[in-house]
Amino acid sequence: MPSRAMAASAAGDAKEYPGKLTLYVFLTCAVAATGGLIVGYDIGISGGVTSMDTFLEKFFPSVYHKEQMAHGSSSSQYCKFDSQLLTAFTSSLYLAALVASFFVASVARSFGRKWCMFAGGVSFLAGAALNAAAQNVAMLIVGHILLGVGVGFAGLSIPIYLSEMAPPRLRGTLNIGLQLMITVGIFSANLVNYGAAKIRGGWGWRVSLGLAAVPAGIITVGSLFLPDTPSSLISRGYHEQARRVLRRIRGTSDVADEYGDLAAATELSGTVKRPWRDILERRYRPQLTMAVLIPFFQQLTGINVIMFYAPVLFKTIGLGGDAALMTAVITGLVNIVATFVSIATVDRLGRRKLFFQGGAQMFVCQVIIGTLIGVMFHRNGGGGVPTTFAASILVFICVYVAGFAWSWGPLGILVPSEIFPLEIRPAGQGINVAVNMLCTFAVAQAFLPMLCHMRSGLFYLFGGWVLLMTAFVVLFLPETKNVPIEKMAVVWTTHWFWGSFVADQDSHVQVGHGEVDVATGKLNQTIV
Ligand code: BGC
Repeated sequence: MPSRAMAASAAGDAKEYPGKLTLYVFLTCAVAATGGLIVGYDIGISGGVTSMDTFLEKFFPSVYHKEQMAHGSSSSQYCKFDSQLLTAFTSSLYLAALVASFFVASVARSFGRKWCMFAGGVSFLAGAALNAAAQNVAMLIVGHILLGVGVGFAGLSIPIYLSEMAPPRLRGTLNIGLQLMITVGIFSANLVNYGAAKIRGGWGWRVSLGLAAVPAGIITVGSLFLPDTPSSLISRGYHEQARRVLRRIRGTSDVADEYGDLAAATELSGTVKRPWRDILERRYRPQLTMAVLIPFFQQLTGINVIMFYAPVLFKTIGLGGDAALMTAVITGLVNIVATFVSIATVDRLGRRKLFFQGGAQMFVCQVIIGTLIGVMFHRNGGGGVPTTFAASILVFICVYVAGFAWSWGPLGILVPSEIFPLEIRPAGQGINVAVNMLCTFAVAQAFLPMLCHMRSGLFYLFGGWVLLMTAFVVLFLPETKNVPIEKMAVVWTTHWFWGSFVADQDSHVQVGHGEVDVATGKLNQTIV
C-alpha cells in the first residue's frame, strides 16, 4: 500500500472548521451560563444582608452596637463594620469554594463537565435552604460552606464547558455569557436586598438568603438537559456520542476535520496521567503563570470591595441605609450593561486591547475616588455627606465598574478557560478558581480592617495594582482571539518571552501512526 505523508495545518492559523453558530449551541451555552447566576447571587447578597440592622442584631450583636454608637463620630466611621466574625461569615463561602475546586477537577475529568454543573446546583440549593432557616451563626456558616462548594463546581466546569462548545471565532462572545449571568446574579441579589430590607418584622434577610434557591434550581434542572462537550466525551471514550454532539452543535455533518483535531489532542492528553504534577513542568509554565496571576490580579482590581461592600462603603461615608442599598443597585446595573460591550467586541478587538483600555479607565477612577473620599472626610469629619460629593463618588465608582465589566471581569474567566491544553484543562481551571477564591476571600477579609486603618488610601493601593497588572498584560499575555483551543500552543511558541519555555524540550509525542509536537500542537500524521 502506498504511503502518504499528511501534515495537518500548522498550529494556530486562525483555523476555520466548517459549520455555523447553531441555535442549539447557543441554547446549550445559554443554559450552562445560567450557572453564573448562583456565583453572582452570593457575591451580591452578603454585603446587603450584612448591612441590615435586624440581621446584625440577631447574629452579630457587637457589630450592631458598634454601628449604633459610631453614628456621628468621625473617628470610628471607617471602623464601625470591622468584625472578624462578620467577615468570617462572608469569607467562609470562598474558602469552601477554594477547597472544592481541587477535587472538582478530578470529577470534571472522570465524569465530564455536565455532572459538575448539576452537583454545583444541588449543593447550592442545600446551602440556600440552610441559610434561610438559620437560627445561629453556625447554621449560617455551614450554609455558606455549601454555597461555596456549589460555586467551586460551577466556577470550574462552566467556563470550560462554554469554551469547549463554542466555535473558535465566537468563543469569547459565548464564554462571556457566563460573566453576564454573574452580573445579573449580583444585580438580582442587590434588588432582592433592597426589597427585603423593607419587609416588616425584620426577617427580610431570610428572604434574601433563601431566594438563592431560585438560580440554584435553574442550573440544577437546566444541566440535566445539556449534552457534555465533544472533548470531554472523547476523552472518556464516548466517540460516537462526541461525533453526534459535534454535528449537532456545528450544524453540519462535515465535522471530520474538527473531530480529528480534537481526537489527536485527546490522545495526546491521555499521556498525561497526573495533571496536578505535570502542570508544574516547565513546558506548562506560561499557562500555570496565567492560571495564578490572572485571578490574582482580577481580585486586586478591588472590584469586590464594591460588589460586597458598596452599601457598607456608602454608609461609612454617611448615607442612610436605604440610599446605601440603592447605590449597590446602580453599580449592579452598570456592571450588566457594560458587560455587553465586551460581548460585542472581544472576538473582534481581541483580549489585549480590552485589558488595556479597561485597566487605564479603572486606574484613573481609583485615584479620583480615593481623593474624593479623603477630601470629604477631611472637610466633613464623616458627619452628614453633601449630596454632590456622594453623587460624584458614585459616578466614578460606576465608571470604574464599567471598565472592569468589559475587561478583567469577563476576561478573567475567558482567558484561563481557553489557554490550557486538554490534558491539564480541569487542573488549570481548578487552580484558577482556587486562586480567585483565595484572593476574593483575602479581599473580603482585609477590606473592612484596611478601610479602618488605611482609609481612603486603600483606593490608591488598588490603583497601583491595576497599573502593575496592565503592564503585565502588555508584556506577557499573548492574544488568543480566534485561535482554536486545541491549537492554542502556538501563541506561546511565538511569544518573545514564553517561546523559550515551551520550545527547548523534547516535545514530540507519538500518536497513532504520527506524532504530535507538544509545544506547537502540530500533528504530523503518516497514513500507511
Ligand atoms: C469576578 C467576581 C466579581 C464579578 C463582578 C467576576 O468575574 O470573579 O469576583 O465579583 O466578576 O462582576
